[in-house]
Order: sequence, then structure tokens, then C-alpha cells
Amino acid sequence: MELPARFDDPYRARHRTAAQIRSAGAIGSLNDGVEVEIHGVATRLIAWPGTGFQTQSVHVLTLEPGQEMDMHAYGLAEESILALQGEGEVFVRNHWARFRPGDVGFFPPPVEHAIRATPGGPGLVAVASISPPEFELYEPAGFYNRQYGVVNQEAAWFARSNATPGKLSGPSQLAYHDSDPAVRAWNLTVSEIRTHGALFNVFCGAKIDVIEAPMVFVLWPGYGARSTGFHFANGDDGLTTAVHTHPASDECVVLWDGTARAWQQGGWHDMEVFDVVFAPCGVEHGISSVTGEALWGGFAAPPQLDLYARTPYYNPPGTFAEVPFGRLDR
Ligand SMILES: [Fe+2]
Repeated sequence: MELPARFDDPYRARHRTAAQIRSAGAIGSLNDGVEVEIHGVATRLIAWPGTGFQTQSVHVLTLEPGQEMDMHAYGLAEESILALQGEGEVFVRNHWARFRPGDVGFFPPPVEHAIRATPGGPGLVAVASISPPEFELYEPAGFYNRQYGVVNQEAAWFARSNATPGKLSGPSQLAYHDSDPAVRAWNLTVSEIRTHGALFNVFCGAKIDVIEAPMVFVLWPGYGARSTGFHFANGDDGLTTAVHTHPASDECVVLWDGTARAWQQGGWHDMEVFDVVFAPCGVEHGISSVTGEALWGGFAAPPQLDLYARTPYYNPPGTFAEVPFGRLDR
């Protein structure tokens, strides 16, 4: 099995146990993880209890042209699904809507949802976050023991140490879309989003600059999410975020385009497109663009009140202002 040269970094998630990642982080990749079948779809496990995450799972879903995910609903977890590459549709608010790279479906419990790839099209790759993790999804592959309620860390370690890397490569296909206005988040009330979900886009949200990088809060309590957070940012050459931690959120930051370096554990680590920073609760992290514009953005669960509380969008002691959607400047 051939591994990319940057995987030689001993700090890579592949070389670190779940307990090591939990306490000190790692650099992973959307191409690096065990692939299993979930809801009928090839699913690569990126951030999940097998890599030390407690509050969310992040998976990469790969659908062949014409393939449709099993319709499903969760009674507890919120799910978000981000279209990364290709073309398809998403079932959101009881409606099949166009689903193109940059679009994000948000599904609170217990709404039914699924995605499908356009027949005869290029296929569809998506990134899903489930918060909190739905452990039983890992049971058929042998990574979860329902009787004892435990993750089989030994099996997970063996499987991901031997996983063949995926072949996703850039450049980014992410773009702003506003098709299917009836299900777009910016045309719905917070209450409507919270109860039945919505279709978002990564370039549209509450604009803010709290860690020295321009960003938008896309999925956050101000727009109706309870357990899911997703923020998206861009940065020019040389822009460096503040080194920071989140006191109560596990975060998985993806480099969606460009090249960058990530700060963790007292050093910089090289990142290429689709690499991810694993920053569980309390683990310090920061990102610096290397060449040209980079796009990055992270899934965090629970949503990061430590960020929101520093913005004018927060009304102490614990509520949020009504915030209009804005477009991320490019
Ligand atoms: Fe962060």
C-alpha cells in the first residue's frame, strides 16, 4: 500500500491512537480512514469515536452515478451533509432539491433525509457530520459492541492502520448556489429550520472575524442548530489564525482548498487539500495559509459558544440576536 509522502509525519492521525488524538490532536485527511457501508453508501470514517472524537462523527460518502442513499432519520442526532464534488440531489423538507458542491443539507431529529447522485452524472462525494455519534452505524463492521456499549478500539486501530487511502484531489468545486429557494435556510425562520431542516451553502452565513480570519457561521444556534456547528473561512497568502482551543467542543477543521500549515503540539504540520485538523475539546490549534488563497472550515460539536460569545450576535446570558445571512467575501 502506497501512502502519500506527507503521511510520513508521525503526528498523522493514522499513526496515533484514539487516546493520543483525544488528548493532543492529529492531522488527518478526508482520504484517510476506514471505508464501511452505511445506509447503502460507501462511507469513509474520518472523525469518530475510533479516532478519539466523543461529540461528533465526520464521514466521507461516495455515491456512484445514479446511486441513492437509503432514506433514514435519527431520533437523537443532528446530521449535516455537505456536497463536496459531483452532482446530485438532497431530500430536505420533504423535497428533492438540487445538491451541488458547496451546498449543505441540515437535518434535525427526527426528519427523514437522504442524498442521491444524478444518473449519468459524475457521481457525488459528500461530507457528513453526525452529532452526537450514532454508535450503531459502526456495529456491522465490528467497531461497536452494543451489548457492552463500547467502541472496539483495537479493531478500529487495526482497520485504520491498514486502510487504503482514498483518491480525492482538488481543486475545490465548492461554490455559492441559491437553487430551490423554498428550502434555502435564508428564506426560512429559525424555528422552521430547527424543526424540519434546510438547505444551506458554505459561502453564506453570519459574517464574523473572531479568530483573526474572516469567516461565516453557517450551522450554529443562531440559525437553529442545537448540536451541530459548521463554520467556513477563507484566507489570503500568509494569513494565520490565532492559536486557540475550544473548552467544550470537539472540532474537525478541513482544508477545502489550497495548501496550509496547522499548528498543534508546539509545531507546524504541512497540509494539502482535504487534510483535516483533529482538535478535540481542549487541544490547541491554528492554521496558516501557505500559497495563495485557502478555504477551510470546521465541523464542531457542540457548537462553539466560546466563539459566539465574543460577537455582537450573542445576548448574554445565553440567547442569540437575529442575524441576517451574508456572503463570504472572496
Ligand atoms: Fe477552532
